[in-house]
Amino acid sequence: MSTRQGEPQGSDGEAASVPQRAKMTLPRLAEMKREGERIVMVTAYDHPSAQVAEEAGVDIVLVGDSAAMVVLGYESTVPVTMDEMLVLTRAVRRATKTPLMIGDMPFGSYEGSNELAVSNAQRFVKEAGCDAVKLERGGQSVDRARAIIRAGIPVMGHVGLTPQTATSLGGFKTQGKSAEAAAKLAEETLALQAVGCFSIVFEAIPAAVTKALMPQIDVPVIGIGAGPDTDGQVLVFHDLLGIFNSHSPKFVKRYADVHGQMVAGVRSYTEDVRAGRFPAEEHSYTIDADELEAFKGYLSAESLAGRSPWDW
Ligand code: KIV
Repeated sequence: MSTRQGEPQGSDGEAASVPQRAKMTLPRLAEMKREGERIVMVTAYDHPSAQVAEEAGVDIVLVGDSAAMVVLGYESTVPVTMDEMLVLTRAVRRATKTPLMIGDMPFGSYEGSNELAVSNAQRFVKEAGCDAVKLERGGQSVDRARAIIRAGIPVMGHVGLTPQTATSLGGFKTQGKSAEAAAKLAEETLALQAVGCFSIVFEAIPAAVTKALMPQIDVPVIGIGAGPDTDGQVLVFHDLLGIFNSHSPKFVKRYADVHGQMVAGVRSYTEDVRAGRFPAEEHSYTIDADELEAFKGYLSAESLAGRSPWDW
């Protein structure tokens, strides 16, 4: 049984101190865009990753449906369910105090009707404490976004490469590479903005297309593989830290090799246990010498063999 509950968290017995910041709000995000302050968004899927995002001081935490692939081991984002997303989102909420927290509506949770979209967006807010939700694509999703916003829940849009419908986009490919495709992207963005999305994600779009489009957009644009001209950037937590050991897209910059470090750590533990080096004295609990002697006396005086605990 774990004895971690109640034990000191730091080597000096104090919980690590996190600098106090003001809670992120939608007006503050709009202000950041106006002032040209870059917005930082990262995904998180559990309590430890949310603690890291909180302590690192990011502005927005997205509980992305990328969890399907980087946490749950699915082949794509398509299979993840609302119930799975809610378990992850609640864990993130418990550690997210300052950043705006957005729940990513999974495939199948909003496309069917406005009613479905609103009721699942409400679940993210009521059952997991989200500040806002995100959904993918233009077209029909614009109606869904409008319905959710009218129900009082802020919505972030997402255009360009939309992984939930990657098959119909021809795979995980850069979007907006022809004038026609870029114009469609512009129309989707403006439609999402017109119905009241407070922000829009641009994914896998040529940097020059983003740059040309930015002056038309009044809400903060958060880019992932969309060049340097968006108002902010987002990366998947597991990609940027190198936790997810598989191919990563061109737009990912790896800031650490956590996977390598985790393998090395677990390998050392394995070797130590097998060699009898762990646990050492400093990892073991003690008992008063008198108590131990009394216990040993009891053991030698009593025959415990064949007795059930209920006979004691
Ligand atoms: O699911 C996700 O992580 C996302 C981001 C990449 C924007 O949608």
